[in-house]
Amino acid sequence: MVNDRTVVADKDASISSRNSGMGHSRLPSKSRLLTIPRKQKSLVRMACFESTCHANRNRIEAVALQQRPLRESSRSSFHKHNFLAQFAGSASHLMLLLPPRVSSPGHWLQGSTYLVRRDPLRCIPKWFEEYGDLYRITSPLGQATMVGAPELARQVLVDRYARYQQKSRAYAVLRILMGNGLVTSEGEFWRGQRKLVQPAFHRRRLDALFAMMVDRVTDCVERLAPVAAANGALDLAPLLSQLTLDIISRAMFSSDVQGAAVDVSRHIAALNEYALRMLRRPWLFLLPRRIPTPFNYAQYLSLKSLNTIVHGIIQARRRQPEAHDDLLSMLLSACEEGTGRGMTDEQLRDEVMTVFVAGHETTANAMSWLLYLVSQHPEVEEQLLAEIGGRLPEGGLKPDNLGAFSYVRQVIEESLRLYPTIWSIGRRCTAEDELGGYRIPEGMNVVVPIFHFHWSDRFWPEPQKFDPSRFSPARRPPPEPLIYFPFGAGPRNCVGNQFAVQELMILTILFHRRYQFRLQPGFTVEPDPLITLRPMGGMMMTLGARLPLSGSRQNTVPSRNFARS
Ligand code: HEM
Repeated sequence: MVNDRTVVADKDASISSRNSGMGHSRLPSKSRLLTIPRKQKSLVRMACFESTCHANRNRIEAVALQQRPLRESSRSSFHKHNFLAQFAGSASHLMLLLPPRVSSPGHWLQGSTYLVRRDPLRCIPKWFEEYGDLYRITSPLGQATMVGAPELARQVLVDRYARYQQKSRAYAVLRILMGNGLVTSEGEFWRGQRKLVQPAFHRRRLDALFAMMVDRVTDCVERLAPVAAANGALDLAPLLSQLTLDIISRAMFSSDVQGAAVDVSRHIAALNEYALRMLRRPWLFLLPRRIPTPFNYAQYLSLKSLNTIVHGIIQARRRQPEAHDDLLSMLLSACEEGTGRGMTDEQLRDEVMTVFVAGHETTANAMSWLLYLVSQHPEVEEQLLAEIGGRLPEGGLKPDNLGAFSYVRQVIEESLRLYPTIWSIGRRCTAEDELGGYRIPEGMNVVVPIFHFHWSDRFWPEPQKFDPSRFSPARRPPPEPLIYFPFGAGPRNCVGNQFAVQELMILTILFHRRYQFRLQPGFTVEPDPLITLRPMGGMMMTLGARLPLSGSRQNTVPSRNFARS
């Protein structure tokens, strides 16, 4: 019998998956299974570690712990390949082999990680097809397990999140800017911070920020009027990035420090670009940041100025703590239950930076993708305009009106399915675990590629089609299985989720009410998966006054956007 706990050591078998659930299992034939001899019964509780014989690693498929005799020939090969068997004491938990390792040639030095870095949107789903719902990519710096089934993703992000709450190495670059804020912190410290920060994003707080959001978006729309009058084109990606940074800085600091907020925005935008450059050239991580290369020095200066400004604002607020209706005053007044302790200046600085960084580029990119998708689908645009025209109240948008724009919301949800701006989540396993029949050792990076769940035809009919009606009340996917989670899942989900949706709704309504957006002829759109999924080379669009809608463009997303052929 072969089940999740079965150990299969088949030296000729190709890698096959045995993950539970929706995976496609390619199990080897029964005659090829190795089982463990009765006299090794005590070894039933053994730990079967990865073969030290490199060439054989990938051939060993999973670990059998059936109490049946081992065939002689197989037994010798079992020993020959030097499994490290250990008693696991009284633990009844069976320890299994590591997930199959991707054997694509990759890079002579960087291994399969190199391919993932070059073209993750193509390789990651392809390898799920080849290896099943769990596989490993390797590089000399470490290895990572990719998780591709909803129930396994739920184990990592929700059920056993405590074992996977450390952030993976990729988050190191974010620490430069965010310090030990909510996105990058771990363990008890994170739990305490989450309790302090969460109330700042309560529904009532968002209502208080609503008028400011409408005001900033309206101002931006007005400034675009000359471009639209000339039927001109512009790159909407930096424009939206500026706008969302403006919104988050006003949400954070209200209006009393807008001069400083502009500087904060400028430095954050610059540091964000440094972080992206580091991700594109990972060898920059090897250079200590103290070496004064031009790159490091520019980064150091920006960071220093930023810290000076933010600490200045925090101290001024501490000196004059009269009520401000903004996120900073919420963070300043937040206290731990029981102790009544608030945040130190350093903690405040890190949380301010975290909210700035996490809360602007994500939303800006989401809006770029939404404008692009709507521009390609006239029938969606028509329905969107009908709703906006029919439901926009005379006195302008108010928090209570947003609920009436159900189609706008569906368009946002479907855009985030096709272009989840946080396209993957990385964790590090802190205590040995078993996932889908494989062993996940302590220290292993575990990656949940959100986009794979959103794009897979295992979970969605015609997944490449842009079809907002998937999120209509009759059709919207239930929370289980976990196949749609643009804002993450479990205790570490996005704290700014509702902030983002509110902002995106205001943007969608006010932008489309006023202008028609069309991709500039000849401009090619391609996703660039770095920290966020952003449009490579921006989003060049022409703006025009609204015209009667016509055309027969296909209701599908061009495939080049998803996979480079
Ligand atoms: C479309 C926009 C957004 C998307 C797609 C998005 C997505 C996500 C995702 C997937 C996570 C989980 C990351 C992980 O598990 O490692 C996350 C976390 C987070 N997001 Fe967002 N986000 C968006 C907007 C925002 C906004 C507007 C804010 C703040 C104003 C924000 C603040 C945060 C913070 C602080 C965390 C860390 C939460 C924690 O670990 O406790 N996000 N976001």
